[in-house]
Amino acid sequence: MDDYSYVDFLCEIGIGSAHPGGVDRTKYIFQKELVKKEMKVLDVGCGTGDTALFLREAFHCKVDTIENHSRMIETIQKKCKEVGTTINVVEGSVEQMPFSNNTYDYIICESVLAFVDANQALEECYRVLKDKGILILNEMSLVQSLNENELNRFKGFYQLQECNTENQWKEKLEQTGFTKIDSLLNSTTIESQPIEISLSPNIDPKLLDMLDEHQRLQQELDGKVGSIVLRCQK
Ligand SMILES: C[S@@+](CC[C@H](N)C(=O)[O-])C[C@H]1O[C@@H](n2cnc3c(N)ncnc32)[C@H](O)[C@@H]1O
Repeated sequence: MDDYSYVDFLCEIGIGSAHPGGVDRTKYIFQKELVKKEMKVLDVGCGTGDTALFLREAFHCKVDTIENHSRMIETIQKKCKEVGTTINVVEGSVEQMPFSNNTYDYIICESVLAFVDANQALEECYRVLKDKGILILNEMSLVQSLNENELNRFKGFYQLQECNTENQWKEKLEQTGFTKIDSLLNSTTIESQPIEISLSPNIDPKLLDMLDEHQRLQQELDGKVGSIVLRCQK
């Protein structure tokens, strides 16, 4: 492979949870949610599926996922086989989901909207949620403005389409039609999970360069780029 996208990089280094706060934050988010066994939950841009697997195990509910990266899909399917659980893994885009209107009780979206056309993805989430269904976003957020160089490096490295403050995320939710928008968490750090990889002699040096740049950006932008958790209702 000549060049790796950020998501290719995540696959190559074998990261599990790739969202702010990791799986601990996901557990915290769902602590107070009353997810019943008969409910349908959708994890959009599920990555390797750690959140989806946690939800299935914790609530025994029906869990669907949608993901557009084939390596991520292979990983979640492998994990499901290993633990003997059933999760419906759908290949597709969060910007145009192959699901019927009013299907889900909950949608969880962790570190996905910044990479896509967020307005379109939110419209899709709204469409496939049941009336009074809940959408939870766990996303990066801009805490302080970045200078041009920082913004270019940040958006360039992660291939971001969106770089929003908490208020801008809230406005997008409001514009889509969501109500009861609550801020569950607002952190001035991204709280990325530490990446540990074994330095195999065969590892592509490009991946090591990417790892360096990822760690530099996390350090340099700490306090300027943070993360938010927003909960809202259709
Ligand atoms: C930073 S990772 C987060 C993965 C996962 N949500 C997690 O928290 O570990 C972003 C994920 O969004 C997926 N993604 C990006 N654009 C997408 C799209 N248009 N439709 C579906 N998934 C998408 C990527 O393939 C990747 O798995």
